[in-house]
Amino acid sequence: MNIENKTVLITGANRGIGRALVNEALRRGAKRAYAGTRGPLQIADERVTPLTLDVTSISQIQQAVGEIHSLDVLINNAGIAIYDDLSDIEVIEKHLAVNFLGPLRMTHAFLPLLKRSKGAIVNNLSMVGLAALPVIPSYSISKAAAFNMTQSLRALLVASGVTVHSVVLGPVDTDMNRGFDIPKASTESAARGIFDGLENGEEDIFPDPASQSIAEGWRNGVVKTLEQQFKAFASESAAAVA
Ligand SMILES: NC(=O)c1ccc[n+]([C@@H]2O[C@H](COP(=O)([O-])OP(=O)(O)OC[C@H]3O[C@@H](n4cnc5c(N)ncnc54)[C@H](OP(=O)(O)O)[C@@H]3O)[C@@H](O)[C@H]2O)c1
Repeated sequence: MNIENKTVLITGANRGIGRALVNEALRRGAKRAYAGTRGPLQIADERVTPLTLDVTSISQIQQAVGEIHSLDVLINNAGIAIYDDLSDIEVIEKHLAVNFLGPLRMTHAFLPLLKRSKGAIVNNLSMVGLAALPVIPSYSISKAAAFNMTQSLRALLVASGVTVHSVVLGPVDTDMNRGFDIPKASTESAARGIFDGLENGEEDIFPDPASQSIAEGWRNGVVKTLEQQFKAFASESAAAVA
């Protein structure tokens, strides 16, 4: 996958990592960047098309589908993170609606276009989806669910030619983690790392120093081994039924 001359859709594109992804896509020569936002967006570059897109809104997703005629890369970036202690079910539901069901709905909606281009789905996930950070447990659950979903979609879409990538993000300097006094990567470097990983064909992308520190262990670890075994089991079962 080379971003040059490709068409990219990024959700949550008005600030933070999403905004940096739009800039990085343009820097790499993307033909068009669809920038999904809940509010108004001003980017002067004529290759950017703003889209009103709340990922929890089925009608806004359908409207966006109607406005896009071809798509190579869908980046599910929009997300929320609320501090909690798992005592309020509504907070868990809110995280699941945006961070898990949002990317799933977007995937279903744009799959026909992605199948046509043999494109890619990139899901911006988090290290806390691999092990819960108990100050944001609902957020951690939603990212774990989205990670698990990414593994299944990756296997389910093999025959279609659509690739599915997880981005295992560590701390990045955005509004989302203002409360954490820890080293953070810049949004620009995270965006570069995400597109580098995609262009290198990495299934799981580790785009910042904190996530890179676990990349090798992850790639050679028991969870990745199990994912590959389960994927093989699924394709053998499908072949046996056919
Ligand atoms: N920053 C980090 O350290 C970090 C670490 C791991 C993973 N991540 C993940 O990276 C992604 C981007 O995070 P960020 O740090 O850039 O966060 P951010 O600065 O807080 O920006 C979040 C973006 O998501 C949008 N958004 C929220 N709810 C939405 C909805 N229902 N529909 C559409 N857009 C919605 C926001 O739009 P509004 O402006 O309208 O609110 C904003 O554009 C998220 O998925 C996050 O979980 C971030």
